[in-house]
Amino acid sequence: MRKVLVTGGAGYIGSHTVVALIERGFEVVVVDNFCNSSPLVLPRMAEITGVEPQVVEADLLDRSALDDLFSVHQFDAVVHFAGLKAVGESVQNPLLYYKNNVAGSLNLFAAMQAHICLNLVFSSSATVYGDPDSVPIKEDFRLSPTNPYGRTKLMVEEILADLGNANPQWRIALLRYFNPVGAHPSGSIGEMPNGTPNNLMPYITQVAAGTLQQLSVFGDDYPTKDGTGVRDYIHVMDLAAAHLAALLKLPQQETSVRAYNIGTGVGYSVLQMIDAFETESGVNIPYTITNRRPGDIAECYADCERSKRELGWRAHRDLVEMMRDQWRWQSLNPQGYR
Ligand code: NAD
Ligand code: WQD
Repeated sequence: MRKVLVTGGAGYIGSHTVVALIERGFEVVVVDNFCNSSPLVLPRMAEITGVEPQVVEADLLDRSALDDLFSVHQFDAVVHFAGLKAVGESVQNPLLYYKNNVAGSLNLFAAMQAHICLNLVFSSSATVYGDPDSVPIKEDFRLSPTNPYGRTKLMVEEILADLGNANPQWRIALLRYFNPVGAHPSGSIGEMPNGTPNNLMPYITQVAAGTLQQLSVFGDDYPTKDGTGVRDYIHVMDLAAAHLAALLKLPQQETSVRAYNIGTGVGYSVLQMIDAFETESGVNIPYTITNRRPGDIAECYADCERSKRELGWRAHRDLVEMMRDQWRWQSLNPQGYR
């Protein structure tokens, strides 16, 4: 493995993974249409690594642009992040999600097949499990996403399973991320959501920065330790390392398609997250308890034994690092990359 195509490599998780790949000596080409990211991330990546990745501005829906890309470069593998990820938006506009995430992925896989590049790491999500019967969640649990976004992830997983059946030469790792948070410890790359954040951590840091007034805690009557929702938050640097591990392991992967949970195995409640942030930053987070958010589940955290055993990977960074790095990124870049 030497040359890797990273789709969506300008985005939040993609940019951290590109940095990890470059630092490990890979030659990286990014393809991104910047629909949810900024080209200004590129010099930041170069600042960290000393190398500016090659970037092709293109949409995965443009099949001929993908063919051009595979004709010019001989890729050993693809890491596929490009996709839309806002659950609420997917409920409002399902066709946008099916088109971008499913049709875009189909174009990519068709180009890979045509150019005989059969190694793939795919960004799936814990959302494919829906509301689990029990926790911690194992990879062989029932898959039952509850919204169009989640269904796009499951559909792509199923397409990939069929591809692996049709041609066992494919080597495909499905990484099911739990809740990514944090930023690069340099504070120069991180996530800056467009508009009001949907996710807890960027919401907390924007309240801390004074951009938002207060946090709404969505329900305190769940059957959890303190009544608020419990999630498996994972530092984006650990997530980037998981991609590296999966990529390096692909040639030895025993089956053509394999799913891996990528989390810490530990669940924290919303109130614990607020408390940890306040302790780390010294900034008070005003909040009120509101109604549950439709579609939310009580508890979700991973059993990560398979990733440990088969990828030799586990998360190392704790809540303190997640809070510190997220807050450093927010404080240094109140306007994101602008
Ligand atoms: P992101 O929005 O920051 O990154 C996605 C990138 O893909 C963006 O740079 C965007 O411009 C690009 N993109 C989207 N559609 C494209 C298209 N058709 N053609 C070319 N580029 C396109 O999101 P992220 O948080 O880095 O997530 C990366 C992947 O991980 C996504 O597939 C997402 O569904 C998945 N995921 C994210 C989370 C999370 O909470 N962040 C959790 C689980 C899974
Ligand atoms: C975490 C907890 C909320 C915001 C989502 C997607 C999932 C995956 C990761 C892509 C929950 C509570 C949140 C707020 C709150 N993405 N909360 N007030 O919902 O676990 O997962 O992102 O694959 O598919 O659904 O993450 O950060 O939105 O919420 O109280 O303003 O924080 O109720 O308990 P979620 P989240």
